[in-house]
Amino acid sequence: MKETFYTNPSIFVFTKIRTYMPHTISGFSKLSKSEKIEWLLNTYFTDKDSARALVKQYWNTDDKLQKLHDEFIENTITNYYLPLGVAPNFLINETTYTIPMAIEESSVVAAASKAAKFWLDRGGFKAEVLSTEKIGQVHFIYKGDFDKLEAFFKHVKLKLISESAFITKNMERRGGGILDIQLRNKSEDLPNYYQLHATFETLDAMGANFINSCLEQFATTFKNEALVFEDFTEEEKHISVVMSILSNYVPQCLVRAEVSCKIEDLKSKDIPNPEEFAVKFKQAVSIAEVEPYRAVTHNKGIMNGIDAVVLATGNDFRAVEAGVHAYAAKDGKYSSLTHCSIENGVFKFWIEIPLALGTVGGLTNLHPLVKFSMEMLQKPTAKDLMKIVAVAGLAQNFGAVKSLTTTGIQEGHMKMHLMNILNQFEATDAEKITLIEHFKTNVVTHSAVVEAIKQIREQENFK
Ligand code: MEV
Repeated sequence: MKETFYTNPSIFVFTKIRTYMPHTISGFSKLSKSEKIEWLLNTYFTDKDSARALVKQYWNTDDKLQKLHDEFIENTITNYYLPLGVAPNFLINETTYTIPMAIEESSVVAAASKAAKFWLDRGGFKAEVLSTEKIGQVHFIYKGDFDKLEAFFKHVKLKLISESAFITKNMERRGGGILDIQLRNKSEDLPNYYQLHATFETLDAMGANFINSCLEQFATTFKNEALVFEDFTEEEKHISVVMSILSNYVPQCLVRAEVSCKIEDLKSKDIPNPEEFAVKFKQAVSIAEVEPYRAVTHNKGIMNGIDAVVLATGNDFRAVEAGVHAYAAKDGKYSSLTHCSIENGVFKFWIEIPLALGTVGGLTNLHPLVKFSMEMLQKPTAKDLMKIVAVAGLAQNFGAVKSLTTTGIQEGHMKMHLMNILNQFEATDAEKITLIEHFKTNVVTHSAVVEAIKQIREQENFK
């Protein structure tokens, strides 16, 4: 609804005119998939036939598979493809992996593969899970005496746990469950604001549903028990729960991955002077540690690797992103997630990040390509996956910082970009071969590629 105000300067009247937007609809979710598409085509598209054909072109020909995808979300009209690439040759601890990566950005998979190979010849990656604790909170408002609230919490704590037993028993049988519940006084930050701050072990599940169900049960028990707690005044009995939800900030669900070698062993085709390389590389990491503008881009490069594996393995990359960036700012200033040292002639490069991942439940049991990725990763536990994902982030960052501090990022990037431009211009295989050869010795820019395609085609027309 649009509200328009007209003012008349002599009488000064406001008139509110209600007009209905032409592009809105009620009951959209009730329409069938085809009806939804038709509404979209009629509302927004001039060439309806082409738009309809495009939407349908992306439907899977296997109806069952398509239905599976349709039902992942609401109002599905078609599929949105991302390429699934693989980066082989990752040696992590004593196991070699080919890592699946779902990502649209060129160069990322190539950089990961290159870094994997580089470190394969230098002892591989070492990774360890430091902790696996997840967090959830019941946020509530209590107007009254804190000592009484504390006494009430002590009185009710065991009941919070026992009344959640119907949710936790399976998880407990496998060795997980509720680790602890604390009462936290936040009233200095916000008047009358308190929390039940709970910690959980969710084993191979990411645990969002488990945690949220427990928290909602805590909230119910907490409110009900407060109503009959004798020491509370009438006002104190009416605790108001604002919300119960897990936190995607998981600083105690941490994994560390590292690579190291003697400085002279860094020598390779791209690194003729390893001493100089190591110093410059460390300087680049130090800059990202102290300078937030650089840290954000540095970490973005890390997330290129992390998100791609998180997505390929059916995990929630938004949750991972939110938690990782909060961790990057944990000391009050946004900083690098990776670190580098040069000591006693040894170059060491490492990452420490929080990752709440699952290898069972959710999309991991449903999406055929996620199952495929999991099998390729040799059916990892959540801890294994934490290590693999952290390594992918570290490898990605190694590749990016290595390029940045040696050749510059554009050389490799534009070579990959060349293929995208060629595809955009529907270059034939013969044109691709000629132009890839041409750009081995010429700088790739968008306009240079366009010009080269034009020239080839003009020459072809003169033949
Ligand atoms: C591009 O996607 C990522 C980089 O900008 C990361 C970095 O600068 O470290 C290359």
